[in-house]
Amino acid sequence: MPQKVKKAIFPVAGLGTRFLPATKAIPKEILTLVDQPLIQYSMDEARESGIEEFIFVTSRGKGSLEDYFDRSPTLENHLKKQGKLDLLKLTERATLDSGSIAYVRQHDPLGLGDAVYCAKNLIKDEPFAVILTDDVIVSKKPVMKQMIEAYNTIGGEMVALMNIPTEEISNYGVIEPGEQKGSTVAIKSMIEKPSVAESPSSLAVIGRYILTPKIMTNIAQLSKGTHGEIQLTDAINHEAMMGSNVNGFIFEGHRHDCGSKIGYLKATVSLALTRPDIKNEFKEFLNSIV
Ligand code: UTP
Repeated sequence: MPQKVKKAIFPVAGLGTRFLPATKAIPKEILTLVDQPLIQYSMDEARESGIEEFIFVTSRGKGSLEDYFDRSPTLENHLKKQGKLDLLKLTERATLDSGSIAYVRQHDPLGLGDAVYCAKNLIKDEPFAVILTDDVIVSKKPVMKQMIEAYNTIGGEMVALMNIPTEEISNYGVIEPGEQKGSTVAIKSMIEKPSVAESPSSLAVIGRYILTPKIMTNIAQLSKGTHGEIQLTDAINHEAMMGSNVNGFIFEGHRHDCGSKIGYLKATVSLALTRPDIKNEFKEFLNSIV
């Protein structure tokens, strides 16, 4: 059985330009779906998947993310005194133990590959998960848990996959598929943001990965790729092209692309409609305006 996946990297150093001007002052990861920041969804998924160590790759202006996971004694005492135990529980869920969390800085937004590489010294020689907060995935079993279970059987490098319509394929990393067994697809090669003509399939990489330290070595040797960035896809593709064990996992769940305005709005509406405290009134409101 492969080594246990205990660590997760959360790359949160991007500039979030699609949400300007808000992201001039607020990290994209702190934007809320109803009342919960995007980062909390990723954190819940990681914890429920058995992740024990959380590594955030941050950048200038992301200080509120560190505050978010910190204790807040004044607020906690206030809620205790008022007997608001439900709210207290919610704030405690947003707190991480000091020893389980680490922050590293990416000085320049040189791309996802570079962001992951910034955590190299904290990863050492263990396999690790990468979770992109932009992708909020609603599923019965957390997607990272689904992947870790598959990884425990087959090992290697693993990326989450979903079918994407042709007109959107050029926004994604796309795989050239080999043999498929159940939800697992062998990957022959990968290409970042291909044109429709170049695209080897409709299977695109979504923001969940399980990687081995070999990928760190590959990133160190990469030069800038698509959009002048160090691409994580290129580092994984190197392994696939060498014939290493690289697989895609077609997950069960509904993915919301919260990195785009329209995806974020759709996620807000969908999640609000599942919330017992507001759904009826919200539905009535939607019916009245549409
Ligand atoms: P995106 O491609 O969505 O970039 O990054 P972005 O900067 O967040 O947003 P836009 O495109 O300008 O609106 C995907 C993920 O990779 C992280 C981002 O924080 C996001 O979670 N990332 C990207 C980094 O950590 N560093 C980078 O240099 C680039």
